[in-house]
Amino acid sequence: MAGTITFTMIKPEAVRNLQSGKILDAIINSGFSLRALKLVSLSHEKASKFYEIHKERPFYNDLVAFMSSGPVIAAVLEKDNAVNAYRDLIGATNPAEAATGTIRQLFGTSIQNNAVHGSDSDENAIMEAAFFFSEFDRV
Ligand code: CMP
Repeated sequence: MAGTITFTMIKPEAVRNLQSGKILDAIINSGFSLRALKLVSLSHEKASKFYEIHKERPFYNDLVAFMSSGPVIAAVLEKDNAVNAYRDLIGATNPAEAATGTIRQLFGTSIQNNAVHGSDSDENAIMEAAFFFSEFDRV
């Protein structure tokens, strides 16, 4: 059965551009409940660790620098089939390819600054939630 939580981060450029309120509004209006939320500045080391899975990719260093360039909003969201429901809400990784009305299409400006991160599996959702919120360590 699909899990009921997913993890998201509103990325630094969207936070800097004061888009967090509109993005959180879209999330809540789509039926997600907030299980945890915080504004946090990622150190270079923490951003490197979070995106470690991409460390061999050519965009990794730039992505880590970007994600540690200012505060992010990290949140755990709850809804039935949360991972897939949230991926539908945010749209494709590249905002230029994201469906009309999705969060990345509305607020993203590039594949790196695609407004939000969203977990890609139930397993990663738990790991990513625990990375930021100790109460999810043993969920
Ligand atoms: P995110 O959902 O945070 O997960 C990994 C991130 O890597 C992704 O969003 C993009 O911001 C970034 N990314 C993926 N592919 C590319 C790419 N080809 N060039 C630059 N950044 C990328």
